[in-house]
Amino acid sequence: MPGVDLLRTKSVEQSLKDTEDPEFKLKRSLTALDLTVFGVGVIIGAGIFTLTGRVAQANAGPAVSLSFVLAAVCCALAALCYAEFASTVPVSGSAYTFSYATLGELIAWIIGWDLLLEMMLGASVVAQGWASYFETFLDQVGIGWPAGLGYGDDFNLAAFLLVAILTALVTYGIKESLRVNLVLVAVKLFIVLFVIVAGIGFINADNYDPFIPQSVPTEGAGEWLHTPLLQLVTGSPAAYGVGGVLFGASLVFFAYIGFDVVATTAEEAAHPQKDLPIGILGSLVICTVLYVAVALVITGMVNYKDINPDAALAQAFIAKGKDGYATLISAGAVAGLTTVVMTLLIGAVRVTFAMSRDSLLPHGLGHVSPKTGTPVRLTLTIGLIVALVASLTPVGKLEEMVNIGTLTAFLLVSLAIPILRKNRPDLERSFKVPLSPFLPWLAAAICLFLMINLTAETWLRFLVWMLLGFAIYFAYGYRNSRVGKGEGEPVRDYSR
Ligand code: ALA
Repeated sequence: MPGVDLLRTKSVEQSLKDTEDPEFKLKRSLTALDLTVFGVGVIIGAGIFTLTGRVAQANAGPAVSLSFVLAAVCCALAALCYAEFASTVPVSGSAYTFSYATLGELIAWIIGWDLLLEMMLGASVVAQGWASYFETFLDQVGIGWPAGLGYGDDFNLAAFLLVAILTALVTYGIKESLRVNLVLVAVKLFIVLFVIVAGIGFINADNYDPFIPQSVPTEGAGEWLHTPLLQLVTGSPAAYGVGGVLFGASLVFFAYIGFDVVATTAEEAAHPQKDLPIGILGSLVICTVLYVAVALVITGMVNYKDINPDAALAQAFIAKGKDGYATLISAGAVAGLTTVVMTLLIGAVRVTFAMSRDSLLPHGLGHVSPKTGTPVRLTLTIGLIVALVASLTPVGKLEEMVNIGTLTAFLLVSLAIPILRKNRPDLERSFKVPLSPFLPWLAAAICLFLMINLTAETWLRFLVWMLLGFAIYFAYGYRNSRVGKGEGEPVRDYSR
């Protein structure tokens, strides 16, 4: 093959046909309700339990609820695009697979690589959050956790054990894991509703004034790294104010991450065309309503300046003399964060599964065990990496990295929708984004806007991650790709 072909695409038909390969076949058993529960299970997590307080206190004040609304608009538009894709190409691997069919192999690789950042780093970040809530909870009920084996120490035993146990569950089988998920999601929903209902009575309207605190300049040596790229470029770094609400939106975006993971289970859905859009949009709507309500309640209960940046929800009740409520909330957070870690693990496995099926990652990794119907080797590998990162590294505060990876994937997916419509008008689409191409373009623009509201430091780290990704692609994926080798009908540039 002369020259370098980075635009080679994998046809939608080939993607669908690959799912029939017995060695790579997953069980199709999930219903719309399973998918919605799965979505809520992964969406509500560390974001609402920790970021609400941190962002209100440091960036947006009571207007953190507006940050949640803005992030929800971004996610809703991207969710429409995901729903259309998932209903057209119901194949494991989510955005990675969609883009392989439309934008070509290099973009598909970039998206897959970003999704790995989202899901593996996300799982590690949330596992550390889980460990800190777990220890707080044990403290509150009077059981000590061995000193030196916890949050902030050299080896985070709790985070390691959590990931190890969840990996075992996921390896055993997705349906069984979803049953555990169902119970934990119910507990989590109860706790979030409890915060809203129990907190309403403590709201003091004075705390909403000013709703958007006046902006405060933040110049200082070394500050630029922690300044949003947009503010750096426009030369007006400041906390609070409208800029703070925008920065806040790009931070609380983390709280919504996960609805896209529903799309990674496309191959395990019994009726993907109908049920995936319900699962994706349904879980997003439920979470948005809950988030805005929680943000309003917490900033109404406590003045934003006094909000505890680490455990705002529990501390707000302690401040009102309701310690028992705080214990209940930490217990709920432990249950809630468990499902997030598990679902992100499942998502990471599904994306790497799709990538190894295409031989962009080693093919042998993705084999499905006939006994469990899951890719055992891959699950254990991902589980081990996440367990080690969560227990040995200080990733606890890297939500922003997870956000930038996810936003990049959303951006590319949104751009891909009008392209696939134009190239393959013949494909059956049981769900269509309204007003295409304008809504998909708007989705892409808002994703980009949130991205440039992330800090310079995050952009630098992200560039390093991308360079690593390119190095791996050109050293391995490009040479071994099944599509590149002409296995199974590669379709090149059918756009021409
Ligand atoms: N949305 C998930 C969380 O907030 C990742 O934990």
